[in-house]
Amino acid sequence: MKFFIDTAEIAEIRELAATGLVDGVTTNPTLIAKSGRNILEVVAEICDLVPGPISAEVAATDFLGMMAEADKLRKLRPNIAVKVPLTFDGLKTCKALSDEGTKVNVTLCFSTNQAILAAKAGAAFVSPFVGRLDDIGQDGMELIADIVDVFANYPAFRTEVLVASIRHPMHVTEAARLGADVVTMPPKVLKQMVEHPLTEKGLAAFLADWQKTGQSIV
Ligand code: E4P
Repeated sequence: MKFFIDTAEIAEIRELAATGLVDGVTTNPTLIAKSGRNILEVVAEICDLVPGPISAEVAATDFLGMMAEADKLRKLRPNIAVKVPLTFDGLKTCKALSDEGTKVNVTLCFSTNQAILAAKAGAAFVSPFVGRLDDIGQDGMELIADIVDVFANYPAFRTEVLVASIRHPMHVTEAARLGADVVTMPPKVLKQMVEHPLTEKGLAAFLADWQKTGQSIV
């Protein structure tokens, strides 16, 4: 299972990339706005920090506009994945870019049929948003289970299921249980995953006993 982080904050990306656990980064217009940075500058910087796919989202909504923006984004660095919305123009853009060998992440997916369309359009990733479905009283993880099941029927589909809109560590556990290819999570969730009170308690006890031995390993 691949771990992407969902942020455009350079300091957080640098800190977590150093753990060796980060396989990629996803951004979106909201995250770019939050960073207060210019999209082209910040995305290029992220691409230099993390070798895996870095999703950068177009802001145009028509095919020609998306293609023009995608062209600028993909020229930034070779590890860019262009992110397009799940609309007909987005799918058309996805197909054109994928045919040219550019990785595309189709975002804002909320149904199995939308995911099938993204796969048909040759997307490298489709991003179903689990948290936003949970927010409106639908079970986001049911959608992931359904997409994973359907994609398993079609080995020719190359599209990876990228679970997005992750809100807490249980989303990650559940996505892994269902066999999703990738999760993209806020840095806070990746940090929460390592925490367990018994780990902290056990480590404190080990350290206290170790000190009593008066030994040192190096
Ligand atoms: C994914 O690529 C999106 O950027 C992100 O996961 C959206 O999450 P949100 O619903 O918390 O905004």
